[in-house]
Amino acid sequence: MATTKKTTKKAAAEIVEAPAAEVRPAPPAELTVEVKRKILFVASEAAPFIATGGLAEVVGSLSKSLAQNERYDVRVILPLYQDVKKEYRKEFRFIGNIFVPLSWRNQYCGIFEYVKDNVTFYFVDNEYYFKRPGCYGYYDDGERFAFFCRSVMEILGFIGFYPDVLHCHDWQAALAALYLKTIYCYRPEYQFIRAVFTIHNIEYQGKYSLDILEDLFGISYRYQNLVEYDRCVNLMKGAIECCEKFSTVSPTYAEEIKDPYYAHGLDGIVRRNEFKLCGILNGIDPDYYDPATDKALFENYSAENIAPKAVCKEELQRMLNLPVKPDTPIMAMISRLVSHKGLDLVQEVIEQALRQDMQFVLLGTGDSNYENYFADLARRYPGKVVSVISFNSDLSRKIYSGADLFLMPSKSEPCGLSQMIASRYGTVAIVRETGGLRDSITPYGAGGNGFTFHDYNAYDMLYVINEAIGVYHNKEEWEKLVKKAMTTDFSWSKSAKSYESLYESVLK
Ligand code: GLC
Repeated sequence: MATTKKTTKKAAAEIVEAPAAEVRPAPPAELTVEVKRKILFVASEAAPFIATGGLAEVVGSLSKSLAQNERYDVRVILPLYQDVKKEYRKEFRFIGNIFVPLSWRNQYCGIFEYVKDNVTFYFVDNEYYFKRPGCYGYYDDGERFAFFCRSVMEILGFIGFYPDVLHCHDWQAALAALYLKTIYCYRPEYQFIRAVFTIHNIEYQGKYSLDILEDLFGISYRYQNLVEYDRCVNLMKGAIECCEKFSTVSPTYAEEIKDPYYAHGLDGIVRRNEFKLCGILNGIDPDYYDPATDKALFENYSAENIAPKAVCKEELQRMLNLPVKPDTPIMAMISRLVSHKGLDLVQEVIEQALRQDMQFVLLGTGDSNYENYFADLARRYPGKVVSVISFNSDLSRKIYSGADLFLMPSKSEPCGLSQMIASRYGTVAIVRETGGLRDSITPYGAGGNGFTFHDYNAYDMLYVINEAIGVYHNKEEWEKLVKKAMTTDFSWSKSAKSYESLYESVLK
């Protein structure tokens, strides 16, 4: 017995030592093959090619930021709309065409490629679906984006790129996750692809009649339970069910969409899937929005040299036919004129705010009742209020740089980018504490970079507008606050890391 014990101990000692003898020399550098993480964004728009809103900016700037990491191979796939900017379009390379099955249809799909900032962009061409003005708003949008998503899945084989992560953005890309889980994952090349879904706005879900599930979307009724919600096909719900993880564009919004007040009916689905939900705050591209280099500005300036911002203000006042008064605060709004932007709060109290010495500038388009209201307000307050009912990117930059205060009292705001852009241009934000507004703007009273109010209440908003104007007249304090706003880090650096962690978590 004693001998056996001894032998066992010796054997154990040998085992512990064994790995040292096993260490092999590292292979020569030329033989190590670096395997990159392959990420494919599926989205309905991306800046600078085609943009109708924040989604495009995020897809454009997040992909660029991720691609700076050399361990990532980042690609983006988009529809080739008629309105894709000509200056880029003429540089696209045609790489071939395939035919895409969509239920009983078999549709032409041309594929174009373009590389920008280390990101490879693919464009899906089919003139029947996409040779129309704008991106959305057609009776057959469901079919158009079903074709787009089905094409995405088919193109992977053609280009020989099977991503590790298929990152789908908003309902227009939701079907890519659904096709992966109901059709393609049974094919060996597709079986390791993991789907991530990002909600940029839960209001737009892609709802259709259940009758067309098989005939139009090409999804078998066997899978009806995945997409059905409220007796309809609900594509966003389908993607939430099918993806490995889903995210929204700010941590606060990730909490809010569990609540019926914000979820447009999907709170139950979100709560049931909350174990795979996270919120990652959007960033902005600090080169694209840089007051030190922006060519649209009357004068360039920076946090170190703020003085020329006064020229931007003076020229803006002149351009908009407002009295040129350096000490009168300009409060601006640049917004789509729709109800969740908090415009009813503005309607309620703006005339009370206007009793003091201030100017109000609004830029935007949207619902006609709001357009008419603001046009009328400008007529009634000449020399105090200017409403520009249009959208104009050059003018928006002149306003971001020339104004003093930026008002964004949204009822809900998944993230919002304007408050970040305004802050970067030294125009101090006044926001309601919701979604990404709450996560990016912190109250002045607590040493923050702007002004905030909690409840969706017009008089709470009026109170902070007055507070902000009070601080504006204290030159020393104001300069400190402007500097603080300008130097807040709104770049992607932190959030891109969070996306990387999200990808790693689904690949484990
Ligand atoms: C949507 C949201 C907006 C967000 C943007 C980008 O447009 O409404 O809040 O900033 O998407 O994620």
